[in-house]
Amino acid sequence: MSDTETIHLADYTPPGWLVERTELTFRLHPTATRVISRLRFRRNPRAPEQAFFLHGEDLTLISARIDGQEITPEVTDKGLTCDVPAGDFTFEAEVEISPEDNTRLEGLYMSGGIYCTQCEAEGFRRITYYPDRPDVMAPFHVRVESDMPVLLSNGNKAGEGEGWAEWDDPWPKPAYLFALVAGDLKAHPGAFTTASGKDVELNIWVREADLGKCDFAMEALIKSMRWDEEKYGREYDLDIFNLVAVSDFNMGAMENKGLNIFNSKLVLASPETATDGTYERIEAVIAHEYFHNWTGNRITCRDWFQLSLKEGLTVFRDQQFTSDMRSAPVKRIEDAGLMRSHQFREDGGPLAHPVRPESFVEINNFYTVTVYEKGAEVIGMLHRLVGPEAYRKALDLYFERHDGEAATVEDWLRVFEDSTGRDLSQFKRWYSQAGTPRLNVEESFKDGTYTLTLEQQTPPTPGQERKLPFHMPVAVGLLSPNGDEAVPTQVLELTEPRQSFTFEGLGARPILSINRDFSAPVIVTRKTTAAEEAFLLASDTDPFNRWDAGRALARRTLQQMMHEGSSPSHVYLGAIGQVLAEHGLDPALRARLLGLPGEDELAADEAAAGRAADPARIHKARESLKDAVARMHVGALQRTYMEAQTEGPYAPDAEQSGKRLLANAALSLLSRGDGGDTAREQFARADNMTLSLGALQALLSIGSGEAELAAFEERWRGDELVMDMWMSQQVQLAAPERALEVTRRLTEHPAFNAKNPNRLRAVIGALPANAAGFHDASGEGYAFLADWLIRTDKVNPQIAARLSTAFQTWKRYGERRQEMIQAQLARVAEAEGLSRDLREMVVRMRA
Ligand code: PHE
Ligand code: ZN
Repeated sequence: MSDTETIHLADYTPPGWLVERTELTFRLHPTATRVISRLRFRRNPRAPEQAFFLHGEDLTLISARIDGQEITPEVTDKGLTCDVPAGDFTFEAEVEISPEDNTRLEGLYMSGGIYCTQCEAEGFRRITYYPDRPDVMAPFHVRVESDMPVLLSNGNKAGEGEGWAEWDDPWPKPAYLFALVAGDLKAHPGAFTTASGKDVELNIWVREADLGKCDFAMEALIKSMRWDEEKYGREYDLDIFNLVAVSDFNMGAMENKGLNIFNSKLVLASPETATDGTYERIEAVIAHEYFHNWTGNRITCRDWFQLSLKEGLTVFRDQQFTSDMRSAPVKRIEDAGLMRSHQFREDGGPLAHPVRPESFVEINNFYTVTVYEKGAEVIGMLHRLVGPEAYRKALDLYFERHDGEAATVEDWLRVFEDSTGRDLSQFKRWYSQAGTPRLNVEESFKDGTYTLTLEQQTPPTPGQERKLPFHMPVAVGLLSPNGDEAVPTQVLELTEPRQSFTFEGLGARPILSINRDFSAPVIVTRKTTAAEEAFLLASDTDPFNRWDAGRALARRTLQQMMHEGSSPSHVYLGAIGQVLAEHGLDPALRARLLGLPGEDELAADEAAAGRAADPARIHKARESLKDAVARMHVGALQRTYMEAQTEGPYAPDAEQSGKRLLANAALSLLSRGDGGDTAREQFARADNMTLSLGALQALLSIGSGEAELAAFEERWRGDELVMDMWMSQQVQLAAPERALEVTRRLTEHPAFNAKNPNRLRAVIGALPANAAGFHDASGEGYAFLADWLIRTDKVNPQIAARLSTAFQTWKRYGERRQEMIQAQLARVAEAEGLSRDLREMVVRMRA
């Protein structure tokens, strides 16, 4: 990577000019759209002297004027420069772009005949010349001219007529929040009255055929609006809120002001086509995008290094929302599970970066689990350290102080310091130091006094050799040997590299329950025994730690099976039996407690223990452990399965979906003993996608399900979202030796479309999820992925860059595999015309 391409946080300079008002006219045409802009510029009194520059990429400049005078600017592939007057002035330009040829899906593009935009992070510069940076905020007035029946943009509607519509957004916003949609769409309408009595018109815009699949999304939107008023005192601020579903979208969804644009898979749902998991995701993402209206839009980011300021906070808010709507412990287990499986992987490899990165080449490569999920964990720690009331007070101050501004992480921490009087300078390291801290635990007990010594240490990450200690909340509880809580949960504040805490007056040596509720995103290392883990799995009062203990126990036995040739441990099997018999426990929680760590996480453990991960061996051990559970507990599994059947009409709520999760978990184990009979029966009678997909998964995992796959395809071939699931399940659950062949065959399936991100993720992106298949000793999985990276990069660099992250774990494997992966990365690096997106990823992942 040449140094001139790298952008540094330290180099931030304020914009030389601010935009007072942005007026845009779009004359839409599939291959020759004209964009006419009129921008009112004002010199920024707080900026150093600099040349006038507007971003612009892949634009054809037709004409430009300053204060009405035609000019001939200097144009490069990055933007435009020209001489400007000393005072305020008006810049006008007309450019031409081709939405139909835009396969990158950044800027203005077409998805299934619908015009739509995606501007975050730097897509607006593909629409017109503009200071495309988040600290330049302006009110927008937009006119759309097209014969499409529905013409939308941000803000309130300002007028419409035959072939045109005008929109006015009074709230100053950066260009990345601009949006435009035009197409043959139908509205699923709704309404909301804000706490202060303002009526808001709500619309979810979809293709006519999808109108029946919007009720749930609308309910979720209304719940989100209410929740943000109640929990954060934040009201909606326009007369109308529009949300559009499109089939081609690089990410999940986008929070454009007053006009959210969604990947259709996160809007459309019916019981027959969406699983319970999809419903939960839809609810969370609708909330997430809506919550951005305050955390992201009203207060935005000064520059892209501050991305977590809006994303970490908004993820934290959507997590709180889901905990309130559903089960808080289950949600915590899901989120902590994601941190462990995905964020720790990123933080422990070549792509590790701080929550606030210090440099980047392509910002699109930093929409990561670290910026989002670890960013949310950092806010969760802050919440735990100051407590819920102080947190709310700090947020009130944040909104009061920074509304209408482009803020920084410093601004964010300052409101907490000012409103609580706390010093957060050490806490701030969570934003600047990458890597997952290790928390080593030592315990001693004497004369009724228990001493807990915690030592924190964070391994080096790229560009950061040495780390300073973090300020972290560690929630601990102590259990008596009889299972009672001897010391209820306390939050210990760790600030030193090594710190001791004592607990007095205990009758017997207690059993430690540490990092309850995943209070800090760290890896706890400690000497324990299988018996202690089984005890915590059975008796801990903290649901997250019960789950965690079950995981630890499973890992222990899996390691023994892999390296000592042991048979599955009786302690583990017995503990699972107890969980199955705990009829009073929330079914969703019971289902989670039965799950095993994934193969990829087990590979990480192997590497952490100093061994080369052997994907085939990991797969085999995990499969035989499932067989053993299934054999040992047939009766209990059958009872669990029966008990988990739901009654009455389908509802995607927490209660019913918890039961179905448990039923499917039991079914998957039962299938290993009954040849799939129960699963076939469930598949045949299922009236919802959760049960049919659960049955199909159970069958695929035992190498069966041919007939069901065919029936499924027959029924759903017209539904692209269901076909995505059909494809990804086949790849993920194929026997390792068949995974590549199945993937290859699907790329030739008529429903496959190499330009659609959802389909690419469902097929190419699913292969690495079949760890033993992807890492096949032949190296063919690696070559296959590399071929697709090169191919996809020419169509959609963002998606190619994302798919490439499958290689980030290369160091975990043996020498042979490492060489093969590096050879493929080298091949990609040499591909002609490689995008900046993919190039940066490959450079970071190469040795
Ligand atoms: N800002 C979006 C979100 O988190 C994500 C996104 C980023 C979407 C970039 C598209 C492009 O809600
Ligand atoms: Zn977001």
